[in-house]
Amino acid sequence: MSWQISGDELARWRDNALSAAKASGIDPQEVDWFLREVTGLDKLSLRLRTFPPSLESSYSLAHLSRLWAERLHSRSPVQYLAGSTTWRNFHLKVTHGVLIPRPETEYLIDIVSAAVKTSPDLDSGHWADLGTGSGAIAIGLSSILTNAQIHAVDVSRVALAIAAENIKSLNYTDRIHLYQGSWWTPLQSLRGKITGMISNPPYIPSPTLEDLQPEVINHEPTLALDGGEDGLTSIRHLVSTSGDYLRPDGVWLIEIMAGQGARVASLLEQDGNYESVTVIDDFAGFDRYVLARRKSCP
Ligand SMILES: C[S@@+](CC[C@H](N)C(=O)[O-])C[C@H]1O[C@@H](n2cnc3c(N)ncnc32)[C@H](O)[C@@H]1O
Repeated sequence: MSWQISGDELARWRDNALSAAKASGIDPQEVDWFLREVTGLDKLSLRLRTFPPSLESSYSLAHLSRLWAERLHSRSPVQYLAGSTTWRNFHLKVTHGVLIPRPETEYLIDIVSAAVKTSPDLDSGHWADLGTGSGAIAIGLSSILTNAQIHAVDVSRVALAIAAENIKSLNYTDRIHLYQGSWWTPLQSLRGKITGMISNPPYIPSPTLEDLQPEVINHEPTLALDGGEDGLTSIRHLVSTSGDYLRPDGVWLIEIMAGQGARVASLLEQDGNYESVTVIDDFAGFDRYVLARRKSCP
């Protein structure tokens, strides 16, 4: 369903929303992002306030106001209010049941892309995205690995339903396969056959969860955030189990929280199944990714 809104009314709505955002310490740029998502207006029209006399919106002005009040008072992330986000070049549906995919997670796909340039055989066989959430990583992988099958797993049925919608709307159903279950459990038949495993697992230490911004801790799924007492519970599991699933020389790549790099590298070294363990920094110089290869002969 769509609504006709007058350009003048929308301009007034925007002015009020901008003032309210500033007064509440919310980045005013979120107002225009939100309007772009729900009305399709472009950045320039919003900045220059050149609105058409009448435009189509997915929401009525009254509903826009209710949603914006939620942003201000409940601190609901603007992506959940719009029901969508942009990640790499994809427009993805997001709801409260999935983590909003972050810009830093995009870099995982760039790391795989660089690995494939030096080892073209990596674009083949089976890849796994463990803890797929909205399906972002699986979709990103499918876009660069055009010869591989992607197996995307999540324990959350709600997340899998959103991932399924995103995969269908972006036409990747022929190469991304969804499974409900814990980490490798649904992929028993692929033991020893996986070319690469990517994961952005929950890695926030439980005692620090309450320090997260209200947008995150009050709205995003705890299942997607809580990494156990030291943040490494899921990561330890992915280190100890992946050796059985990766093929010789297979890729093991995860996102971590800044400061976890040395401990994750040491877990991989101690496990004995991995080699070429590399901690990779983000653009700000923080250790945010760990890459390793399955040893050919453990
Ligand atoms: C940090 S979120 C990452 C979501 C998505 N891959 C992304 O990068 O935006 C972690 C995901 O792991 C899932 N998860 C948590 N425990 C899991 C488990 N035992 N097995 C499979 N998935 C799990 C959560 O439901 C959540 O979707």
